[in-house]
Amino acid sequence: MSTFKAVFAEQIEGKPKISIQQIDRASLPAGEVLVRVHYSDLNYKDGLAVTGRPGVIRKYPMVPGVDLAGVVEESSSPDWKPGDEVVVTGFGLSETAWGGYAELARMKADWLVRLPKGITLKQSMAIGTAGFTAMQCVVALERHGLVVDSGEVLVTGAAGGVGSIAVAILAKLGYRVAASTGRPELGDYLRSLGASEIVDRNTLSAPSKRPMESERWAGAVDSVGGDTLATVIRALVVNGSVAACGIAGGAALNTTVYPFILRGVNLLGINSVYVSRSARLLIWERLSRDLPLSLLDSMTQEAPLEAVLDLGEKILAGAVRGRTVIQIS
Ligand SMILES: NC(=O)c1ccc[n+]([C@@H]2O[C@H](COP(=O)([O-])OP(=O)(O)OC[C@H]3O[C@@H](n4cnc5c(N)ncnc54)[C@H](OP(=O)(O)O)[C@@H]3O)[C@@H](O)[C@H]2O)c1
Repeated sequence: MSTFKAVFAEQIEGKPKISIQQIDRASLPAGEVLVRVHYSDLNYKDGLAVTGRPGVIRKYPMVPGVDLAGVVEESSSPDWKPGDEVVVTGFGLSETAWGGYAELARMKADWLVRLPKGITLKQSMAIGTAGFTAMQCVVALERHGLVVDSGEVLVTGAAGGVGSIAVAILAKLGYRVAASTGRPELGDYLRSLGASEIVDRNTLSAPSKRPMESERWAGAVDSVGGDTLATVIRALVVNGSVAACGIAGGAALNTTVYPFILRGVNLLGINSVYVSRSARLLIWERLSRDLPLSLLDSMTQEAPLEAVLDLGEKILAGAVRGRTVIQIS
């Protein structure tokens, strides 16, 4: 096969143009390992990239798709051989390196992770960057002292990808989870993942000049940012922590230093792209142990590559529930 199917982002007269095309195999970037991609997925960042919004793609032409799972086809690295099942998340895929919305991908050998035991290629993409980030948040909270007895943990943007997986992991670990959502009709869905309380996101998103609120949450996973994150910081218990990973509700953060100096709360920044190999393997190991696969399957839908451009608009509008796996080949 001399060509392969891909979502292709070009810049024409200064404007991004994204379409599905047959690409010449000779155009693939250099790299030690060629992977036949079986699945990719849909993250908020993919929504930005495939709709031509700024902030993700940093060089053109680009194949978007921040994640991929597939089978090694060729390798010049001693670490990988044809037939190995692999997963790649982050490392600038869809930003500076061609990503997962393509039947073939070539990349550096050390970006690949062996498919964790007990999960399928499809399930690895149901997890994807969203699940990887959710687990990074949980690990960061634990490292800052969160234990089940600390109290209730809040998840914002709970019906989204990061949120749904964070709810499922925290509930499995025994935490009492409050799930904040703007979609009250998804209350039963969130309870099925393990949430014990549903919080209307409007109660968290109003700007406020108050330095602090009553102590409410021992920890939080925040995928919303903006005034929601500011509210969470004001309402953490003494020495509580929030893992901040998202901007679905805004990027500006208006807060005072009072919660930090009077309650000792911690604001933990989470980045899923550039993560050391040892930390990456630890996160995947925790995911295979602490994320119930039945819940993962229940929050996942599958779509063909052709649907990705429409789904991009949908995820930016906050209208996608849980996780979406994209079938590639
Ligand atoms: N730091 C990192 O490395 C990293 C990695 C992955 C993701 N992220 C970020 O994390 C966020 C979530 O990603 P995702 O893939 O899970 O996206 P997603 O599936 O679209 O989830 C985002 C959720 O946020 C809520 N939301 C959407 N618009 C909102 C608004 N205007 N105000 C308040 N809440 C809103 C919605 O939840 P409800 O309907 O339940 O309210 C939505 O489902 C994104 O900002 C993404 O960029 C960062």
